[in-house]
Amino acid sequence: MLSASGPIGVFDSGVGGLSVLRHIRAQLPDEDLIYFADSGHAPYGSKSEAFVIDRSFRIADFLLSQKIKALVVACNTATAMAIHLLRDKYPDLPIVGVEPGLKPAAAKTITGIVGVMATERTLSSNKFHVLHQTLNDRTGVHFIMQPCPGMADLIEHAELDSEPIHTLVRRYLTPLLEQKADTVVLGCTHYPFVRHVIEKIAAESGCPDLRIIDTGYAVARQLTHLLDIYAIRRGKTDCASAMQAYTSGDPKTIGHLIARLLQTTMPVAYISL
Ligand code: DGL
Repeated sequence: MLSASGPIGVFDSGVGGLSVLRHIRAQLPDEDLIYFADSGHAPYGSKSEAFVIDRSFRIADFLLSQKIKALVVACNTATAMAIHLLRDKYPDLPIVGVEPGLKPAAAKTITGIVGVMATERTLSSNKFHVLHQTLNDRTGVHFIMQPCPGMADLIEHAELDSEPIHTLVRRYLTPLLEQKADTVVLGCTHYPFVRHVIEKIAAESGCPDLRIIDTGYAVARQLTHLLDIYAIRRGKTDCASAMQAYTSGDPKTIGHLIARLLQTTMPVAYISL
């Protein structure tokens, strides 16, 4: 039985899912949130499908033991690998995933060429392949897949404005711009945290109007919609909503990253799953 007073569980391979959590917090300020950063096992993007599925189940089981009323898979890679299996296992739980925003990108592009920056694992998944093929058939838009190994890793290490992150973003973005992409999809929840670097490099490359698609807002909106359908959205209370983070990595590092990325603090506890 799902209770409106229960928290919402959100997870990612690391801190990337915080780019989704910030939209959830803005749209659902009365909800309690539990965030799980699987930093001890990140990155997911270069791991096997079986590994990502196993991690997703362990984390979902843990979050359910904390009495969550809804689950947000704030990771494109885990969504692509495991969301159908999570929905099979927990048919009564509202579950929201994250997918690269190909549809909004197809609606925005003028050149008809869209770059998709994501992990290798997301881009090679069957779920992504079906989405891509369907949209390509329907709209004629050409999607260029750009795997970005190493990028989530640097962000995990708080490299948000350093020389190495500039070098890596330039390496992945330049071929997309050279092929006349006017729209780029951020297909990994870590990448919104270096959006300013992407914009800067695009401007330096003569593409100051590059459109950048981040689905964090839409994911929070979908979550709100589901909570309403299940009639478990929390009403206004007198006490402030609570946020708690857990990590399989170093809680101190995650605490610092949360403060830097969200300009807020929350308690972070280590847990080995
Ligand atoms: N943030 C994740 C995603 O959206 C995964 C990054 C990684 O661990 O490789 O795909």
